[in-house]
Amino acid sequence: MHIQHNISLKKYNTFDLDVNAKHFISVNTLTELTSVLKLEDYPNKLMLGGGSNMLLTKNVEALVIHINLKGTSVINEVADHAFIKANAGENWHEFVLWCLDKNFGGLENMSLIPGNVGTSPIQNIGAYGVELKDSFVSCEALNLNTLEIEVFKNEDCNFGYRNSIFKNEAKGKYIITSVDFKLTKKKHQLQTNYGAITSQLEVMQISNPTIKDVSNAIIAIRQSKLPDPKKIGNSGSFFKNPVVPSKVFEALKLSFPEAPSYPVSDNKVKVPAGWLIETAGFKGKTFGNYGVHKKQALVLVNYGGAKGEDILALSKLIQKTIYRIFNIWIEAEVNIL
Ligand code: EPU
Repeated sequence: MHIQHNISLKKYNTFDLDVNAKHFISVNTLTELTSVLKLEDYPNKLMLGGGSNMLLTKNVEALVIHINLKGTSVINEVADHAFIKANAGENWHEFVLWCLDKNFGGLENMSLIPGNVGTSPIQNIGAYGVELKDSFVSCEALNLNTLEIEVFKNEDCNFGYRNSIFKNEAKGKYIITSVDFKLTKKKHQLQTNYGAITSQLEVMQISNPTIKDVSNAIIAIRQSKLPDPKKIGNSGSFFKNPVVPSKVFEALKLSFPEAPSYPVSDNKVKVPAGWLIETAGFKGKTFGNYGVHKKQALVLVNYGGAKGEDILALSKLIQKTIYRIFNIWIEAEVNIL
């Protein structure tokens, strides 16, 4: 077991923030993971997956455990479906490409989402009209108290918009070690009517798209709007789109008739936080080496060498300004540490 001390977490978080972990270990097997969890010399432990959904504002005094469990396999196949198990440390996008390579459909709209398989259920990742929960069968998770593996079926996870049991009752109590998916082998259910997918496919001159074509279209759209974390530090959407009572939205419409919204239920609508932030004048604003992305206002960026605490202060300024102008509070989507 190789524990390192005072090491930089820069390459382990997509915001590219240079904070230190007091202690650090990367675990490759379940046995290694359970042995590390039993170490009494390190009472404080922090689990780290792909580091794509966190803002590190200070040095981490705990033992950081990097979950590096690899492996993907087909566990069963029936006429129309394949059942796949992917271990937690697999990179999400590489896993999507692996599925596409085998012509397994269902994940193509979630191409290029940063992060790992093991953290995908925590916030029920989603993009372009598809969410993880649509193909998620179950996951295995290590109970941190008993050190036993427990299985969470889809219905156990209480999936919601960027939400699950792992952000609520089960928060901090489990480590997801693998995820099982049910994907299509034929009769793929293409979802191409969200946003710019249809027009992107037209640009690509594709009239009868395959799942790989849809993935390529999504990749093109994402690359045109979202900064590549390998080039500019970021954590994807920093905020969630707020869900507000229709009455609040009607009031907002009086001052901002052009305000966009999506219905959520009979009396609630989702308002794009990107629109609120852009309308408040923050889109493309830079503050030295950090700021708000110029093509997608939901994304805060580190242009190099920024401090997590500065980005946190910017996020708070945005929240307060939005509240003052629109009377709507937007919540951070990323975890702040
Ligand atoms: N908009 C603006 N200005 C902006 C950005 C957006 O006015 O700078 C408005 C536009 O009206 C646009 C609407 O917001 O029509 C929606 O924008 P978009 O389709 O880009 O989606 P989003 O709501 O901003 C969500 C997810 C993204 C996901 C996209 C596509 C959340 C918090 N974010 O963004 O997820 O890729 O939809 O499905 O739900 C992520 O979670 O890291 C992420 C990037």
